[in-house]
Amino acid sequence: MTRVLSGIQPTGDIHLGNYLGALRQWALDQHEHDSFYCAVDLHAVTVQQDPQELRSKTLETMATLVAVGLDPEVCTLFVQSHVPYHTELSWLLECTVSFGELRRMTQFKDKSTKQGDAGQEHVSAGLFTYPALMAADILIYDADRVPVGDDQRQHLELTRDIAERFNSRYGDTLVLPSAAIPKIAARVMDLQEPTNKMSKSTDSAAGSVGIFEDTSSIAKKFKRAVTDSDNEVLFDFDAKPGVSNLLSILGAATDRDPEILANDYDQYGPLKTDAADAVINVLEPVQQRRAELLSDPAELGRIIARGAEKASEVASQTVHRAKSAMGFLPLK
Ligand code: TYM
Repeated sequence: MTRVLSGIQPTGDIHLGNYLGALRQWALDQHEHDSFYCAVDLHAVTVQQDPQELRSKTLETMATLVAVGLDPEVCTLFVQSHVPYHTELSWLLECTVSFGELRRMTQFKDKSTKQGDAGQEHVSAGLFTYPALMAADILIYDADRVPVGDDQRQHLELTRDIAERFNSRYGDTLVLPSAAIPKIAARVMDLQEPTNKMSKSTDSAAGSVGIFEDTSSIAKKFKRAVTDSDNEVLFDFDAKPGVSNLLSILGAATDRDPEILANDYDQYGPLKTDAADAVINVLEPVQQRRAELLSDPAELGRIIARGAEKASEVASQTVHRAKSAMGFLPLK
């Protein structure tokens, strides 16, 4: 059976991009694979977090994983920091990846330059080594398949490079994973600035749709989505980013092809209404289930504890294998 691993940061508000590009895909094929899904809290602290908020966001993220339809009886749902082997393997991989490779990561360049000219001086060293921890998250479960949105492509390529290098230095130890990027909605764009991807950053509150947002607010955001002035519905991201984004959101939410959907519309208004309705339709049950789960913290606690145990069993074996391959003296 194919082994699957993916993760989501428990920071900010989970948005429609996270849902359509990742979470929904995870839930769709959970029965076909041996799947591991986690809230990556160790990644969250690469930027400073309020401790109280990190705790509550982590719990909410775990409730969200179940609410989107991931069945804790079928897949392993866990909190990354509950499995300390991730950081142990991460160190071994930090010593495998090069400084130059990490410096070329787009996400690091983007996030550090956002801090101004002296950005790289002030961001945490963890933000720089983040891709090694992400590689550890994946490689520690011998994952073959990693379902992610398009923005994680470069991290996945680096993970493969790290695994290949490790294997060529120390013998065949780590499984080479592949990214599984959805055909539709792999990069959901901001509704107000459709040439930027939808993100958790708060600079674009009107352009980002939170999956737990009030449904009337979701409808309003779609109504105000930026399109263009020629009123022709075409699926062409270069020429019509706003309209194409609405078509892919509608397509992903209804499992239909956005290019074919374009033929059904000759005006933007109805497209916006249908996209909003389709999104609300898929999100409403998720909102309800998450509220129920958060009202029963004991059950959620049991799911999290069981996940940590199952994940640790697999992770400890891989770390052991990797340390042994590298020549660490075993403890007798
Ligand atoms: P994160 O928390 O930023 O995002 C979680 C998932 O959502 C996808 N995503 C999107 N998909 C489509 N359109 C968008 N606008 C959009 N924004 C985000 C992301 O591609 C991701 O799949 N580094 C990762 C977390 C991580 C991870 C891992 C992922 C840590 N370790 C191991 C996979 C495997 C991140 O920050 O995702």
